[in-house]
Amino acid sequence: MTTLDLTPDQLLSTTRAVRRRMDFSRPVEKDVIRECLEMAVQAPTGSNAQGWHFVVVTDAGKRKALGDIYRRAFEMYRTMPGAAGNVFADDPVRGPVQQRVMRSADYLAEHMHEAPVLLVPCIAGRVDGAPGVMSASHWGSLLPAVWSFMLAARARRLGTSWTTLHLMFEKEAAGVLGIPFDDIAQGALIPVAYAKGTDFKPAPRVPLDDVVHWDGW
Ligand SMILES: Cc1cc2nc3c(=O)[nH]c(=O)nc-3n(C[C@H](O)[C@H](O)[C@H](O)COP(=O)(O)O)c2cc1C
Repeated sequence: MTTLDLTPDQLLSTTRAVRRRMDFSRPVEKDVIRECLEMAVQAPTGSNAQGWHFVVVTDAGKRKALGDIYRRAFEMYRTMPGAAGNVFADDPVRGPVQQRVMRSADYLAEHMHEAPVLLVPCIAGRVDGAPGVMSASHWGSLLPAVWSFMLAARARRLGTSWTTLHLMFEKEAAGVLGIPFDDIAQGALIPVAYAKGTDFKPAPRVPLDDVVHWDGW
């Protein structure tokens, strides 16, 4: 498929969490998902181990089951002090942005199962409770590939959104998809659909100077 005419910097700065602008009525071709996954597996992995697996869920019954799990987790998250809508509530700049994120997240929770494709990226091994060095190399060997998938998807007019909340019930999701839970860890749940329009913009972020440290903290 022909890709959008975006420079690398435009692609990197306009790949947004697409929730309300997903076109649930348009199917996503298997070949496009394969193209995005071909880009994903160009990402680096520790020791070049390539222990990743990508479960592509199109079956309506399984999407419904995953959507139900996600919504249950989302309802728990919503009440937590750290939830998007509950942090920075008194900040005149960040407060309204967080409220918008929460409304958008509410919408996704209602509609997750309607996305024609749900991608569950996985990695061999589990690092639950392991030291930082192990978890950094474990997740660092999967998550760059996931972001590459999302960039490749954006270039092909697809919208995606990184989500992790279903992992509150990871074992249950593993049961739905037949993933061997003891040996394979899920890293995310990524809804994929054609985006309504392609005109995504760079997002407001904390100023770089607040977070960059030259030559030490
Ligand atoms: C590790 C991680 C976990 C996330 N989990 C969720 C989630 O469970 N549900 C959701 O709606 N968005 C989730 N997001 C998306 C963020 O809310 C989103 O990236 C953020 O609001 C910034 O929006 P932007 O990506 O469009 O700039 C997650 C993002 C990351 C990186």
